[in-house]
Amino acid sequence: MVNNKKITQTTSKIYKNVINYAIRETKIKGRLELKRTFYLTTPIYYPSGKFHIGTAYTTVLADAIKRYHLLKGEDVYLLTGTDEHGQKIQEKAESLGKTPKEYVDEMAVMAKELWKKMKIEYDDFIQTTEPRHEKIVQKIFDYFMEKGDIYKGEYKGLYCVPCETFFTQSQLVNGKCPDCGREVREASEEAYFFNMKKYANRLLKYYEDHPNFIKPDYMKTEMINNFIKPGLEDLCVSRTTFDWGIKVLKDPKHVVYVWLDALTNYITALGFWSEDDSKFKKYWPANLHIVGKDIARFHLIYWPIFLMALDLPLPETILAHNWIVMKDGKMSKSKGNVIYPEELIDRYGLDATKYFLLREMPVSQDGVFSPESFVERYNSDLCNDLSNLLNRTVSMVNKYFEGKVPEYNGTPNEVDKELEEFAISQAKKFEEIFNNYEIANSIQEIWNLVSRTNKYIDETAPWALAKENQQSKLQSCMYHLIENLRKIAILIRPFMLETSDNILRQIGIQNENLISWQSLNDYDKIKNVKVIEKGEPIFMRVNVDEEIEYMQDLMKNR
Ligand code: MSP
Repeated sequence: MVNNKKITQTTSKIYKNVINYAIRETKIKGRLELKRTFYLTTPIYYPSGKFHIGTAYTTVLADAIKRYHLLKGEDVYLLTGTDEHGQKIQEKAESLGKTPKEYVDEMAVMAKELWKKMKIEYDDFIQTTEPRHEKIVQKIFDYFMEKGDIYKGEYKGLYCVPCETFFTQSQLVNGKCPDCGREVREASEEAYFFNMKKYANRLLKYYEDHPNFIKPDYMKTEMINNFIKPGLEDLCVSRTTFDWGIKVLKDPKHVVYVWLDALTNYITALGFWSEDDSKFKKYWPANLHIVGKDIARFHLIYWPIFLMALDLPLPETILAHNWIVMKDGKMSKSKGNVIYPEELIDRYGLDATKYFLLREMPVSQDGVFSPESFVERYNSDLCNDLSNLLNRTVSMVNKYFEGKVPEYNGTPNEVDKELEEFAISQAKKFEEIFNNYEIANSIQEIWNLVSRTNKYIDETAPWALAKENQQSKLQSCMYHLIENLRKIAILIRPFMLETSDNILRQIGIQNENLISWQSLNDYDKIKNVKVIEKGEPIFMRVNVDEEIEYMQDLMKNR
């Protein structure tokens, strides 16, 4: 029997320590088992149009991190959703002859269809127009008002009368309205503000005491030097010039403005301050929020301050990634340089698309998408390196051992030993780098193992060993190739699941123990395994010129 009181005590103790563990009863063993929880989020997307590969990137990244933690046996929860209020959405819906709610609901369906196609395993999808979100945002707003953190003031800015919109100086184009090109004039409106200044020092101290809070490190320096040190501005949290938003209960001519509405989704989705807050208790604080650099400031400054004002623990890490850009800069329809994820998936497959997106994004600068770089990675990394390694191995095991993988002989020679150690250390290196959220670099380490294993074939020259009848060396060589392929298949599982399954099937590895993350430390457990009779290429070379032309045409003909 499980003692509920004990569970509650244990949970709250752990909760206080800010390390999340879910407690579950293992029926077989009849005892309590602690499982680490891992809560991660994507930004909630503006449903203002079709998602291009840039917006899909964050979700692919989140899904890969989720799957990695699942493979490590953790209790993982991934939240995504759509950010559905605001003037732009209202106008977009009107231009299509729809109500805003009709429009955002259709867009949410579109987003879910895309995530399904991309096999994104999210656990919850929140729409900010859902009552479960709206009600709690209203409560939070009220609470901040009562606490004195929100005060009434005046919003001043440059106003375009026909567009009924405020702009900042930097948003203007040639000093005129960026939307209609007409003159703007200084104007002001009544608005509520959140007193950010009050929390500035606490935030700086928090940054200092929690070195893992912001990744990469340089983002922290940017926040401190550009926004906090020069004097933190209070944030406008309500507007009266449009009404597609959450009404402020105590002053209903105001709607809650953007970031207070959007950021709180990370807790409202878990049931914070609602009747059933079990998920909130289990998963908060989040382990990871993933955001693009353009919204880093809101997550690294305003969100922690809102949480401090709510007396809640802060997330463990906020990862602010760079952008995927095209050779000629930002993706935009007018430039004719937008690529949609469906287009890459339909032609090159899901795994190749995910591989490219994750592999091409450096930590400290934008990743560039070009048809040339996509085709180059496809042909070189996936076909030449990975697919060929598998093919060569399967065909040699068939040729020399009738498909039966020789067992580990226990006494590896110098070359084999070096390869073995390299494979084990690469897996460790991958984890270290992945845990630091340097995903592209971590994938590079897997491909270093692929290259090293290909080189091993050239070094050991199995065809010569066969000719010279060096049976024991040949056996050991085949064993080591299969073992490395097994490891590579496990390492790519978080982002190339189908390819991983395919490799494992072709090398005859079906036993769960040999597919587990823990088994990356083993090097001698493969027994009674047969490779398939005729290897199947997992990726086939494509014609460079044809594919470049194909992608260029796609972008032009929108
Ligand atoms: N709704 C806000 C987020 C609120 S989160 C509480 C928003 N939405 S967005 O749809 O404009 O952007 C969503 C995410 O997509 C952001 O993290 C943004 O950085 C990311 N990206 C948009 N274009 C991108 C690229 N070209 N490359 C990589 N990420 C890109 O902001």
